[in-house]
Amino acid sequence: MKLHIIFLVLTASALSTEAIRNGQIWQDAPYMARFVVSFGITNLEAGGSIFSHRHILITGVFADPVLTVPNVWVGGSTRTTQRAVAVQSRARHPNFSLFPLTNDIGIVTLNADLVFDRFVRPIALPPLGTSMIPYDNEQGTALGFGGVPGVANTTEHLQAAFMRATTPARCNSFFQHSVAQQFCAEDARLRSEVCVGDIGGPFVVLRRGEEVLVGVISLDFCDATFPSEPALFTRVSAYRTWINQVTSV
Ligand SMILES: *[C@@H]1O[C@H](CO)[C@@H](O)[C@H](O)[C@H]1NC(C)=O
Ligand SMILES: *[C@@H]1O[C@H](CO)[C@@H](O)[C@H](O)[C@H]1NC(C)=O
Repeated sequence: MKLHIIFLVLTASALSTEAIRNGQIWQDAPYMARFVVSFGITNLEAGGSIFSHRHILITGVFADPVLTVPNVWVGGSTRTTQRAVAVQSRARHPNFSLFPLTNDIGIVTLNADLVFDRFVRPIALPPLGTSMIPYDNEQGTALGFGGVPGVANTTEHLQAAFMRATTPARCNSFFQHSVAQQFCAEDARLRSEVCVGDIGGPFVVLRRGEEVLVGVISLDFCDATFPSEPALFTRVSAYRTWINQVTSV
């Protein structure tokens, strides 16, 4: 029932920019995954990115063993057409820290291999040995099914925000961060923003025509009164060796 109500609310506001604030509806992201994290009686939504038949990249926050994550939803860019697949385990980076948020990266391993088709497909990771991508000012796309506080808690349609990586100096004026392991990005023109249910989702750049997963959405204040803040991302290239150790990918 609750889902129906949410769905009706979202249909009523379809084509408005309900989430990822100022976002745009996005169709083509077969690597997009989402899941619900249960912590006691609280349920939180989060995003993730499929990068192999068995593996989904998420934030370290949601790889916390105290949280319950039985399923991940995959299969396209509309919530109601996705299907649930069972989670076997989650790994969190051993040096994860919450304050300040660092090494915020984790891996979901599924119970069974995903069958790839046009709605479910992996995204490329940066090749082993690549360092420091994205470059400063490189444009990328952040994706999520999250809502905007006070507008909607979740969205039916996947949303995209087009952002550019900021300089480390600009990032530092908002977040205590490690340049080698994190970057900031923002949309200086339309001020698109990722919000709470988007955490863990992808930041994707085009490399010689191929989409590459270079960031994991880590932190955004998503506060309408501070629309000019960038969001903080985990730099996937810095964790490429660890990902390979855990998954052999
Ligand atoms: C965690 O931090 C320690 C100390 O800095 C380092 O030696 C180790 O390689 C790190 N672990 C990973 C998986 O990066
Ligand atoms: C979001 O969820 C909260 C808690 O379930 C609920 O009270 C609130 O009405 C929801 N907001 C919207 C806009 O749907």
